[in-house]
This record gives sequence, structure tokens and C-alpha cells, in this order.
Amino acid sequence: MEATPHILVVGHDPTLPTEFESALSGITGVRAVTHFARDFRQGIEAARSRTPDLVCIEMDRNLRILKSFTEELAIAAPEANITAIYRQDIFGPEDSEGAVIIEALRSRVQDFLRRPLSSTELKQILDRLYQEKLRPRRTHLGKVFSFISNKGGVGKSTISTNTACALARQYPDRVLLVDCSLQMGVCAHMLDLRPETSIIDAVRERDRLDETLIHQLSVPHSSGLRLLAAPKDAVEAAEVDDEAMSLILSMARRAYDYVIVDTFPMLDSVVMAILDLSDTTHFVLQATVPNVIGAARHMDVMEGLGFRGERLKLILSRNHASFSGNLQPRDIEDRLGRRVDYVFPYSRRIMVAVNTGRPHVLNSPSWYGFGKAIRHLIRDFGAVVPGEAAKKGRKTKGRKAAEAEAAFDSPKSQPLPLDDPPFGDESDPTSDKDRMEAWRS
Ligand SMILES: Nc1ncnc2c1ncn2[C@@H]1O[C@H](COP(=O)(O)OP(=O)(O)O)[C@@H](O)[C@H]1O
Ligand SMILES: [Mg+2]
Repeated sequence: MEATPHILVVGHDPTLPTEFESALSGITGVRAVTHFARDFRQGIEAARSRTPDLVCIEMDRNLRILKSFTEELAIAAPEANITAIYRQDIFGPEDSEGAVIIEALRSRVQDFLRRPLSSTELKQILDRLYQEKLRPRRTHLGKVFSFISNKGGVGKSTISTNTACALARQYPDRVLLVDCSLQMGVCAHMLDLRPETSIIDAVRERDRLDETLIHQLSVPHSSGLRLLAAPKDAVEAAEVDDEAMSLILSMARRAYDYVIVDTFPMLDSVVMAILDLSDTTHFVLQATVPNVIGAARHMDVMEGLGFRGERLKLILSRNHASFSGNLQPRDIEDRLGRRVDYVFPYSRRIMVAVNTGRPHVLNSPSWYGFGKAIRHLIRDFGAVVPGEAAKKGRKTKGRKAAEAEAAFDSPKSQPLPLDDPPFGDESDPTSDKDRMEAWRS
């Protein structure tokens, strides 16, 4: 498996980023996410928002500044490994390199890299980072799953909202949906929520943002989910930058087991920050020729940026009724040269759900159709899926507990008329009409 360390490089020398990238590019099997900060103040800000695994600091003879930086770093990114980068010519004839290094070690510097940087020495530091398991915080961090696309209206918000609800039903209060469709967030409407607070409050409070504040700024939904809503309009949305987004998601994964991120169809710095922090990104596309061609280009760019392999999954969203000449998953796989990981089938009841503000998955069984696709998705997120838990539970949990879990997934316990029939044509069930009447009144 590829390693993905997050590295922050702090230094004012303009040639340092290029030199660092070139040393990194000589190391195979590592796909690092690297950020550069020009001075110590920017470095501390970036350390807070990016929670790096490794911070490389340009060191000169003034160790007093280095010391105060590392002290602040201990608070901003307590689990980061600190490595000092230096040129030998910083030492004058009267300086002892050893004495300066010992002094630097007292300032919490753990490793040193001499310039010009070499891939071999950098690799040794990265190897140590993993071998010594200097990343214990990761075991306590929640997982981030994002949904992206190259065009709007393909089903991202529908899939992310329903996925988040399905997870929250299993893990109440442990799932956060972050609506990063910044200019036109719809998750609150899909959940029939009217949040007073949103991402924008998190951005404005970035200096004191922590797990507690993230929780306070999110709003609860009856499924057990919490929502951090999108800004209210495009003017507010313009306040959100990549640094703020990284900070929000870093705090969110400290506070929740699952962080689900809905996005907008663009590949700008904010989306890149989301991708950087995502354990898995799901590319959602429709089965239309222009969308598939656009997706091919978009995915090429993403792969060029290093987002590939298991970190990038493909979802085919059938959000239009079937028609003759409809592209099949096989056609899309041939065009994109990669597997379609999930297919979300068309369901007219999705539209009903959008209008009534009750996500479809909360009314649909998980053994066919859209509910089944969601079930597969959350199982791949590592979530316990009710039916499967019941099977294991029969041996370990006793009959009653196993029956209770099985009932969740049983067709009898589901309001079947609200979901698509597995076979044949759909007709609008009376219950849908009743719900729409109720909504209108
Ligand atoms: N599986 C589906 N079956 C039917 N309609 C769907 C399905 N998925 C999404 N839709 C509909 O497609 C439209 C676009 O979905 P949305 O989730 O808002 O897309 P995006 O977030 O990519 O812009 C919405 O009207 C939604 O109700
Ligand atoms: Mg959307």
C-alpha cells in the first residue's frame, strides 16, 4: 500500500520547495501531501490546519527563533515529527556543528536533513516515521469520505446525504455530514433542517476552532446524523479558503468516527484540500457520453495529482430513467480504463424524498435498489451493516440481540411501499401522495 504522509516545509528560501519536491520524487512508494510555508507564523497556521505528520523547518544559526517555533508547534501539531533542514555553510569557523545540533535537539528537533537534500536521507526519515509509529493519533481519527464530480446534477448530494443517514442510524451522533457544496448547499433542505450555524461560523472562528466548537456549530438530524451546513449564499462562500477547509475537516475527524463531505463540481484549492484529507474520494458520474468524456479528463488530472488506487472510487449514478442506447457500466469501464465500483439505480422515490425532506434510505430496504447500493458503500467504509452484524451476532450476542438487528434489515420491518419495487414498472404509491399532501399543508 502506498504511504501518504502529510509534510509541512517551513522556510524562507525560495529554492527550498523545488529542492524538497525533487528529493521526494526520488522516493518510490510514497505519495506525500506537501505544504510549504514561507515564515514561522504561516508555518504555525498551516501546522494547525493541516495536522502534518512531519514538519521540516529551515534552520539557521538563530536557534532562539527555532526554539520558540517548536514550542508553538508542540501545541499546534503535537504529534508531528520535527526535522531541521540546514546548509553546512550556516556554521562559521568558530561554530561547532555538533554543539548547534545538540542545542537544536533540546528544542524538540528530532531529525536533521542537510542541503542539498537527498532522496536517501529523506526516505530514512519517512521510514522512521512509520516504523516507530509516530502517528498514533491517526488510530483515533475518524474517516473522511468525500463525493466529487466534474458536473452538477449527477447525484452527489443525494448519495452523500443518504450515505450519512445510513451510517448515522448505525452510529448515532458519530457521523458528521459537511456540506461543502459551498455556493449551493442543499443538504439542509434534503434533511428538512434549518440550521442557524454553518461552515462560515467555523471559518470565522478558525482561531478557536476545536472538536467541541465543530460539534456546537453542527445541527442534529432525527437519524442520529449531525450536519455542518453550507454557507447561506455565494458571498459567504467566498470566505472559505483551502486552509480553513483543512482545519474544519481536521477538527471534524477528531470529533467524529465518520465525516462525509458533499462537494461542488470543480477542482479548485478548496476541493484539493478536501481530497488531501479524504481517506476515500468517490467520483460520481452519470451514464451519458459527455459526462463520461469529461470524467475521463477530470480523472486524468486527479491521477496526475496523485489521487489514484484505492483512494479513488467510481460511482455510476443512474439518476435518470433507463432509455434505449443507455450506456452500461461495461461501456464506461472501457472508456475510463477502470472499474465502476458502485452503481446507484434510478428511483423515482428519490425525488419524493427530496421534496419531503426525508432521505430515501430511511424509508427503503437495504436488500435491493438504492438502499442496497448504500449498504455496500457503508460496508466498504468499515461500518457494521445490520444484517451482517446479526449473522455474527447469532453466535456472540445471543438470540434477542441478533433478532433485533435482523429486524432492522428484514423486509417485513420496512415500509416497503415507499421504495421501488425490485421488478416491473413503478406506479406512484398512495403513501407518497399522502406524504406530499402532508408536506403541502
Ligand atoms: N438514484 C436516483 N434516482 C432518481 N433521481 C435521482 C437519483 N439520484 C439523484 N437523483 C436526482 O437527481 C438530481 C440531482 O441530484 P443531486 O444529488 O442534487 O446531484 P448533485 O449533488 O451532483 O448536483 C436531483 O433532482 C435528485 O433528486
Ligand atoms: Mg449537490
